[in-house]
Parts: sequence; structure tokens; C-alpha cells
Amino acid sequence: MNSLAILGGPPVRTKPFPTWPVFDAREEESLLEVLRSGHWWRYTLGEATGPPQGGAASAPSKVSELQRNFAAAHGCRHGIACVNGTAALEVALRALGLGPGDEVIVPPYTFVATATAPMLIGATPVFCDIDPTTFNLDPGRIEEAITPRTRAIVPVHFAGLAADMEAISGIAARQGIPVVEDAAHAHGGSWNGRPLGSIGTAATFSFQASKNMTAGEGGLVTTSDPALAEVCESLVWVGRKTGRPWYEHHRLGWNYRLTEFQAAILLAQLERLPAQTALRQANAGYLSARLREIPGISPLAVPSYATGHAWHIFVFRFLESDFGVSRGTFLRALEAEGIPASSGYAHPLYRNPLFENPDLPMDYRRFVDLCPESESACAEAVWLEHRLLLGNERDMDDIANAIAKIQAHRASLRE
Ligand SMILES: Cc1ncc(COP(=O)(O)O)c(C=O)c1O
Repeated sequence: MNSLAILGGPPVRTKPFPTWPVFDAREEESLLEVLRSGHWWRYTLGEATGPPQGGAASAPSKVSELQRNFAAAHGCRHGIACVNGTAALEVALRALGLGPGDEVIVPPYTFVATATAPMLIGATPVFCDIDPTTFNLDPGRIEEAITPRTRAIVPVHFAGLAADMEAISGIAARQGIPVVEDAAHAHGGSWNGRPLGSIGTAATFSFQASKNMTAGEGGLVTTSDPALAEVCESLVWVGRKTGRPWYEHHRLGWNYRLTEFQAAILLAQLERLPAQTALRQANAGYLSARLREIPGISPLAVPSYATGHAWHIFVFRFLESDFGVSRGTFLRALEAEGIPASSGYAHPLYRNPLFENPDLPMDYRRFVDLCPESESACAEAVWLEHRLLLGNERDMDDIANAIAKIQAHRASLRE
């Protein structure tokens, strides 16, 4: 085998991987349609399609269509579009009545928004460690995090892999509290054959640039509870109410509305999602099998309840002692072989400076000892972006061959 590219040898791969986002004439035509219509925002709440104030003639709203189609594709009766996934979490939690003094159980191995959305509405995130085999909330650790103030559990379907919803829902039901799925990574995924986003009382999605469906930014709440949907929509619409006068505001809301341009893009992205998800699943299955043969590389488990992995990220543990070099050295060598990869979250959320604020209602330093699996996940994870999974089996072979090459030549990598 040739010597390592980082030491001057030929790289395994010189071709670029598929790029993200993916778009075609569908996005282009839909965007132009909105541009020319003059309907640049969804000017009415509910299902109405009336004309904007002083604007062009009536036209169906793309945001309304997105809400209907996305909810239906995710097994839900209602969808409420909004500006981003963080806002979607704030809206869902506020609509469920959470606020100051309430505690929300969240994993620490996730994007900061899972914890800051509760904080932004005055509630307190309480961290609960993850399962070392899936990197999702460990149901066996939830009960010890519950206090009389616990008002919700927010599991993240991390990387697109379903959380253990049976166990989590059981605990929530015993406590009489709702589950809000953070499905920012999980468009088109499923749990025991049911769409992710349809299992909890509500769920939230992100359409930020890196996500499996994107308009650059965007978010959406799904729920099948009509009363909750109505409150969510009102919160996104500065407290307005369907059918009530325009300048009548019923609750303290935000302007968190999505534009018609974003919805135009997202409708096209939603059409493409099933085929892209199937391709990611096929490639991820093939890549996992190949990587399991390499010492020190351990792809995360996919439990049988995770019937449809959305593969937002392909994650494996990098076990330095079994592989023979440090993760940093490995990542640099992999990059040189033409395979982009990263180490993911640098630390569990509670280590962020924002949690050192002495004015917070909780001392977050204690979670360092309470969450050893999140600490270990941050130390050992390697992430591959989902766009790499939009190639073919040859592309997956390049990834596996590059890793196997580095393993075979590890002795030449002086650290
Ligand atoms: C798990 C998770 N939750 C929530 C969010 C927040 O979404 P947004 O960036 O659209 O606000 C993200 C986004 O990166 C995320 O990864």
C-alpha cells in the first residue's frame, strides 16, 4: 500500500464528495413564483389565503402548504413553521406552559439550543447523561434527574437516530409531563415504523444550512394536538389569534415567521427527502459494515426500534489505544487522504462558559461527574457530514480504504 498522503504519498481520494445543499429547477421555479407573485410572507394565520394588506391578488401560501405537507410526511396533524429550530423549541415549550422555575431534562451531547431554548423562556435545563452506544439520552439515568420542578423531557434524536422513545415516554407518562422531541437532525426518520416528530406531545425541526432539509435557516413545530398547535401559531405571530382583529394580541408572542421564499425552497427539499434518506441509509449501512472491520473504529449502534435512521451525521467512536494514534493525528491524516471529517462537539454543553454564570439557578459544575458518557463521547467521536452519504458505494469504499490505510501505516505517524 502507498505511503500516507500526510507524509507525501498519493491520497486515496482527489475527487470532491457531493456538495450540500442540493437544489434544481424545482427550487428555482418556486422561488421565482413567490418573487413574481408579490406574496413574500404568509399574511394570514390559519388556513386562509386572503390578500396581503395593500398587496397583490390572493394566492395560496407556500408556508401553509409546507406546514401541511411537512406535518403529513411526519405523521402529524399540525405543523407550525418558524424562523429556526431554536425558536421552534422555545415556542413548543412556552406553548406547553413552561416558564421560570420549571426544569427541563436534556442531554448534554447536543447543540447548545437544546439547553438554551428552555433558558430563553426562563426555564432551567437539567442535564442527563447519554447511552454510550447510541449517544442519545439514557432512559436509565432520567429518573435521578427528575425533581418536583421537572416539567418536560427533551430527547434529541442525535445524528438522526431515534432516541429510546418507549422508555422515555413511559417515564414522562408516570410523571405526567410532556416529551418534546428535538428532531433537528431527524427529518424523515422513524421509530418502530412511526415518523420521528410524531411520538412526543410536540417535536421541533431545524432547516438551518447543515440540516437534511434546508432553506439556509428555518424551523417547524409538529404536533397532533389542535389546541397546542393554535397556541404555537399564536406565539409565532406576536400573540395574534386566528379570526380575531389584526391588532389584537392575546399573549406575549414573537415575530418568528418563516418567509414564503424559505417555504418555496423547503417544499422542493421535502419532495427530495425520501430518496435522499434512502440513499443515505444504503450508503451508511455499507460504510458501517466496512468500518467495523478496522481496529479502533466503532460506528454507533442502531437499535432495532430505530427503524429509519435519518443519518444527519455518520458517527463513529475512535478508540485511540486500539487504532494506535491520537484522534487529532488521525483526523489530520484522513483530511490529507481527501476525506473531510471532524471531532464534533468539543465538550458537553455544561462546560460552555455560559453555564459558569453564578446567577443561574443551578451549579452546572456537578454535571462533569454525573455525565461520564457525554465526556467520553466528546473525547472519542468522529463525525462525517451527511453529504458524504449522498455518493455511491465507491465513495464509501474511499472513506473505508483511507481509514484502513492510516491504520496500516500508523507506525509511520510520529506524534
Ligand atoms: C440538536 C439541535 N437542536 C436544535 C438546533 C437549533 O436549530 P437552529 O440552528 O435552526 O436554531 C440544532 C441546530 O443546529 C440542533 O443541532
